[in-house]
Amino acid sequence: MNIVLVGFMGVGKTTIGRKLAVRLGYKFIDIDYQIEREQQCKITEIFAQHGEAHFRKLETCALERLIKVKNTIIATGGGILTTPGNMNIVRKIGKSVYLEASIDDIFERVSRNKKRPLLQTENPLKTITELYEKRKELYSQADININTNSMNMWKVVSLIIREL
Ligand code: S3P
Repeated sequence: MNIVLVGFMGVGKTTIGRKLAVRLGYKFIDIDYQIEREQQCKITEIFAQHGEAHFRKLETCALERLIKVKNTIIATGGGILTTPGNMNIVRKIGKSVYLEASIDDIFERVSRNKKRPLLQTENPLKTITELYEKRKELYSQADININTNSMNMWKVVSLIIREL
């Protein structure tokens, strides 16, 4: 079985995914990291040099290649479901888990660094709120929905395992 973690930037997909993989004895793949490694380039540089549309193509290619993996936890980038067709690929890969967090929690977590090109705006909170509104419907198509608010990461991992 594979598990695909989806959800907004900063909800902890990578951290939770790694811990979940340890608990289940599965492999772990982070799509953003895989893209950076293949392109030998940071996500911020890909956005700056080639634009978001190019990044989305790389993201879909990386996702398609995961159809064949087994016993793997996959952390996706927060915008992966904005590309039409990607949810169908996610369904082919495995069970999808939406990690939900409040806008306040997200803002608090993403404010810690400048790794996210889409949030380098004058008013990141406003940007987060707008993107969140646009995307929440997409995330809610996942098989399992986990509310991570005020919960530590290991607790979230246990909850996911219980819901599988
Ligand atoms: C994005 C989320 C990022 C990364 C890119 C775009 C998005 O991943 O893929 O900056 O559109 O939400 P995280 O969700 O890991 O921050």
